[in-house]
Amino acid sequence: MRKGNIILIGFMGSGKTTFGGWLEKTEGKARVDTDEYIVAREGRSINDIFETEGEEYFRKLETEVLREFADRGMDNTVISAGGGLPVREENGVLLKKLGSVVYLRAETDTLVKRLKADRTRPLLRGGNLRQRIEKLMEQREEIYKQRADLILDTDRLTFEEMYERIVEYENSCN
Ligand code: S3P
Repeated sequence: MRKGNIILIGFMGSGKTTFGGWLEKTEGKARVDTDEYIVAREGRSINDIFETEGEEYFRKLETEVLREFADRGMDNTVISAGGGLPVREENGVLLKKLGSVVYLRAETDTLVKRLKADRTRPLLRGGNLRQRIEKLMEQREEIYKQRADLILDTDRLTFEEMYERIVEYENSCN
């Protein structure tokens, strides 16, 4: 059942955390972030989790966290999902259960600019950043689109405009 929750999905650097923070501050939404939640629960960084336990372990944690959020019965909350979270089929089902799924789309150039100094994301370490982004995007873009109730072009919209579109979408569902 949908209870005014907004789930932000999209590639690393697409603005899920920043826009989520804006929604919290400006629209009085509660906010949770799957990455932050995992880091707090595990007491170690995402780099650390990937290095010591591997990616598959992290993906299991993401599903656990999502299930926990779905069971908790959240309300009026913006949930920022880690960039790879929508890929798993079972996560897709949980996302829909949680609320309106919004895909924040960003141009590759924008992503490169935002991610070039980042050292916190294990999947982007080493090699050519643009190529890594393009390869992952190729694998994920269709999935993001499939999971989304709404797609927002973040390169062309302000946060205010993005929120207006979300409200319009939510109203159209009622
Ligand atoms: C990942 C994205 C990251 C984080 C982890 C893996 C991915 O989250 O969950 O580094 O697979 O795209 P952000 O999208 O918040 O950066």
